[in-house]
Amino acid sequence: MSVIAIDGPSGVGKSSTSQEVARRLGYGYLDTGAMYRAMAWLCLNRGVSDPGDVVELIRGADLEITTDPDDFRVEVDGMDITDDIREARVSENVQTVSAVQDARDELIERQREIIGDTTPGIVVEGRDITTVVAPDAPVRILMTAEESVRIARRSTELHGTADAAAVDATRKLVVDRDAKDSTTTDFLTAADGVHTLDTTDVGFEQAVAAVLGLVEDTT
Ligand code: C5P
Repeated sequence: MSVIAIDGPSGVGKSSTSQEVARRLGYGYLDTGAMYRAMAWLCLNRGVSDPGDVVELIRGADLEITTDPDDFRVEVDGMDITDDIREARVSENVQTVSAVQDARDELIERQREIIGDTTPGIVVEGRDITTVVAPDAPVRILMTAEESVRIARRSTELHGTADAAAVDATRKLVVDRDAKDSTTTDFLTAADGVHTLDTTDVGFEQAVAAVLGLVEDTT
């Protein structure tokens, strides 16, 4: 069973790269950020924000996430919330979940179960995959890119453009979320044995090729 662990900040291109690498290798794909988002969506829906209540809610939650890179879906209580978890209100409140260690531990356990159940391999992406969730993965990569590039990429995703107004509207979202996230997980420096893939001047196809190259080197 082969695990490819990929971490990085927002807008670095982790999801699209990981999904495509999984497709090319015939592997599963796990977007751990989607699990945090799904639980944040549930907390918002139930009006829950107290850390103790958040953990309780997550422990009892019926969370389903697919690992098929061609059929990505997230469900809570049987309801498809794949699109809902991308809403701005979820992005802005996701730390209600991700900043609570007991909530993280619960999701990390589920992530490890999914990893163990997926054959012949899985590409897992997030913030703490190379260090906490799968530190023994044979391939571990930290994707980085200059902040201005990440903001422009996220702006294009959210607004369909990276013009000055859209970039301005996106800057605060990206910078604030990364600043808060970096207080719980260190996804800005590569741990020992983790390869750094700087995508500042690297397009999508090149990033995919670079990851596949690292996989080839280790098998
Ligand atoms: O990757 P994405 O931007 O969808 O992640 C949403 C949020 O989930 C992050 O901002 C972070 O707070 C949290 N997260 C995390 N650990 C992970 C993946 C995501 O704390 N492994």
